[in-house]
Parts: sequence; C-alpha cells; structure tokens
Amino acid sequence: MSAERPQSISATRALLAAHDYLADSQLATSVYLALCLGRPLFLEGEPGTGKTELARVLSQALGAELMRLQCYEGLDVSSAAYEWNHARQLLAIRAAEATGQSAATIADELYSERYLIARPLLRALRPHTVPPVLLIDELDRSDEPFEAYLLELLADFQLTIPELGTIRATTPPIVIITSNRTREVHDAVKRRCIYHWVGYPDAARELEIVRRRAPQAERALAEQIVGFVQSLRQMELYKLPGVSETVEWTRALIAMDTTVLDPATVDATLGLLLKYQDDILKVQGVEAARLLAEVARQQELTH
Ligand SMILES: Nc1ncnc2c1ncn2[C@@H]1O[C@H](COP(=O)(O)OP(=O)(O)OP(=O)(O)O)[C@@H](O)[C@H]1O
Ligand SMILES: [Mg+2]
Repeated sequence: MSAERPQSISATRALLAAHDYLADSQLATSVYLALCLGRPLFLEGEPGTGKTELARVLSQALGAELMRLQCYEGLDVSSAAYEWNHARQLLAIRAAEATGQSAATIADELYSERYLIARPLLRALRPHTVPPVLLIDELDRSDEPFEAYLLELLADFQLTIPELGTIRATTPPIVIITSNRTREVHDAVKRRCIYHWVGYPDAARELEIVRRRAPQAERALAEQIVGFVQSLRQMELYKLPGVSETVEWTRALIAMDTTVLDPATVDATLGLLLKYQDDILKVQGVEAARLLAEVARQQELTH
C-alpha cells in the first residue's frame, strides 16, 4: 500500500519514528530534501549507525518497493543493471533457422526488451505506481569504473543500453547510496547527491533506539547499557561499537535474564560489542568495572 510523502521535516522524522527509526533533525532534513528535490541521498558514516536501515524503513514507510544493490569489488553492469539473456537468444536463433529464416533477419528482435534481464538499477527505472527506493549499498566496496557508470543514472535517472537505446524513468526512484568510507567515493558521484554524514547518536537518542528495538529491556537496564556503550566510544579502540551492537547486546542480555549490568556479565558478553581481541583485552576486567561504576554515578546524578 502506498503512503503519502511527508510534507515537512518534522513529518519526515515522525514517519520514520512510526517505523522505529529515530533520525536526528539533520538526518530528517536531508531525507526530506532528498524527497522534495528528487535528489539521491549519499549516507556516509561509521558501521552500524543505521545507513542501510534507513533505506529499508523509508521504503516500508512510503509503501514502496526496495531495490537493493549490494556493491563489491568487481561488480559490473551485468550484475548491477542488465544482462542479455544469451540462452534465450540462442534458442530464438535455432528456432528461426529451423523455419528457414537466417539469424540476420531476427537480429533486431534479439536485442529487444524480451531478451533483457533487468538487474536492480534497471528495475528501479521501470514504471511503478509508487516510486521504488533504490539502495546502492556500500558503494566504497565497488571500483571506480562502476562509480563512473552510475553518473548517468544519478544525474538523469536513465541508463543507456547500446543495443537498445536510453531508458529513462517515468517515476524516478528514491535513491540512497551508502558508504563506510573504506575509500573516498569520487566527487562526481557525491556532487550529484545530498551528502549526509551519519555519526553515533547521543545518549538520549540511543536510549530511545534501544527502547524501540529491544522493548523487553527495562528502562534502568537500557540506560546502563547505553551509558556503558557511550563511554566505550570515548576510548581509544580499534573499532568502536555501532548502534547495531548496542541493540544486539541488549537482546543478548535480555536472553540471559539480566536485570542489572555487573562487571562479570559485561566481561562475558563483550564479544557482542567489540570485534577485535585487542579491544576486548583492553576493556575486560578493571576498565569495564571502572566504566560501570562511572555509569552508575552518572545515573545517580540524573535521577
Ligand atoms: N537511527 C536508528 N533508529 C533505529 N534503529 C537504528 C538506528 N540506527 C541504527 N539502528 C539499529 O542498528 C541496526 C543496524 O543498522 P544498519 O545495518 O542500517 O547500519 P549500517 O550503518 O548500514 O552499518 P554497516 O555500515 O555496517 O552496513 C538496525 O537494524 C537497527 O536495529
Ligand atoms: Mg549497511
């Protein structure tokens, strides 16, 4: 079912929140403008901060289909945009020959839509009653020729198929591109988009996210969890925990029937927050106990 597009920044924020996605006002502004101006949204940021999730939630909230293109090294046009169905073309040639026609007489027919296999980029340009959301995920993993290939699509919502011509979207998709910045994406791509850096949320928003995504957690436990993760992010670690780690950790603690965080529980479950042994060794034991005590002190001050 299709839904109305939000008519203001606050309505955008409320729409996302109604689907359990909590955006700060800057992100809500970027999303609203991307929708209003029909420009692609480029989300760059730390891992696990809700970049991919935004596309998923937005498609759900708008009642739009989500077309997802996961980027990787070596991604090419045939996996991303379209491919000719060679097997079917061959069959058509055989069938033509069997009836005495030469392959040349059906050459034009062989390169028509019938023999085209549409991949996410082309599918997103096809007519839809509700414009789809096209997610180009982790563009930094693809290589530069692919970025260059995207320029035509991002600027004009069109693709050129040499044998067939230019295919232009009648209902332009909502395009969301994400990057973890493992390398810089080319300026030419960014210039065609609204750029937004997705950082870690502040404690209040992270608490709200945890409350929505792991509703079984009591408020006091959720506060303790968020306080702990927020203080971990102040440390010099190789890889800081993202929001997805906070949510996963909360779910794990609930599964363990935890009601209050204590040093032993933290030590036993650190692997849900930190993914490098060096980081775990740095935090486990004395440091974890110290952080917990600090969180408890802060909680006392605010209550
Ligand atoms: N603003 C938010 N509101 C609600 N949930 C959030 C938010 N940010 C993150 N999350 C939670 O974190 C999870 C992971 O987010 P997501 O996979 O979108 O991160 P990402 O930025 O795409 O990470 P990566 O760069 O590793 O792909 C979501 O499924 C959701 O539970
Ligand atoms: Mg992602």
